[in-house]
Amino acid sequence: MTNDAAPVVTGTHVGKTFANGAVVALENAQFNIPKGTFVSLVGPSGCGKSTLLRLIAGLIEASSGEITLHGTPVRGPRQDVGMMFQKATLLEWRTALENVLLPTELQRKPTRADEDKARDLLGLVGLGDFAFSFPAQLSGGMQQRVALARLLQTGADVLLLDEPFGALDEFTREHLNLELLRIVGELGATTIFVTHNIAEAIFLADQVFVMTPRPGRIARIVDVPLERPRRLALQTTPEFNRLVVEVRETLGEL
Ligand SMILES: Nc1ncnc2c1ncn2[C@@H]1O[C@H](COP(=O)(O)OP(=O)(O)O)[C@@H](O)[C@H]1O
Ligand SMILES: [Mg+2]
Repeated sequence: MTNDAAPVVTGTHVGKTFANGAVVALENAQFNIPKGTFVSLVGPSGCGKSTLLRLIAGLIEASSGEITLHGTPVRGPRQDVGMMFQKATLLEWRTALENVLLPTELQRKPTRADEDKARDLLGLVGLGDFAFSFPAQLSGGMQQRVALARLLQTGADVLLLDEPFGALDEFTREHLNLELLRIVGELGATTIFVTHNIAEAIFLADQVFVMTPRPGRIARIVDVPLERPRRLALQTTPEFNRLVVEVRETLGEL
């Protein structure tokens, strides 16, 4: 029997210190993220959002506690999780398609099927006609789309996105957020999305992890019981506003 509600990512008393314990970046994080859930991490600069993502990605090691992915403890980087950042970090001398194929190439010689998958993913992110364009020929938003396709090419079904559209203008960011929801919905991916924008965090998520600094903690997990697909007009509803107030109160802003 498949159990769709089985947690894909869990954290038990997860802590991370730096500088020989002088900096407590994250303290006692506890969470349980079911398959297909969209989680937003929201909080001010320095509250440990990136640290938590890097721990889940296995890029750094927890100082205490344990994280599991698909039921096994995270001990280092692995195939079932992938990360994306504010900067697309595309290789300038490679086409969009060649950039998307890179994760495959790092493992083996790409097959025709790999190439077909990469082309399908470019279609999925709305760049079907730009497979042979170079990064310099693409806008910032299009470059982030390529980065998203490259992340999906890895086959990871846990997507960690660290302020992925934070450097883009507001219109482009809103549009890409909607596209992201469509794509992760289609793929059934489990997503953890970092932002310091409260409205954005709520708009996207099933659950908002509200984080506070010194020491970095998940102060509260706020459920977002708003219907999907999400529409921009949702942001003017009383229900949405109630959630904004709840998050702001947790952050001590009200
Ligand atoms: N490699 C590191 N060495 C020392 N301190 C770090 C390191 N990485 C993060 N920190 C500290 O940990 C805290 C949390 O950082 P970070 O997770 O990047 O916050 P956020 O992403 O929420 O802005 C900050 O005080 C930051 O200075
Ligand atoms: Mg950060």
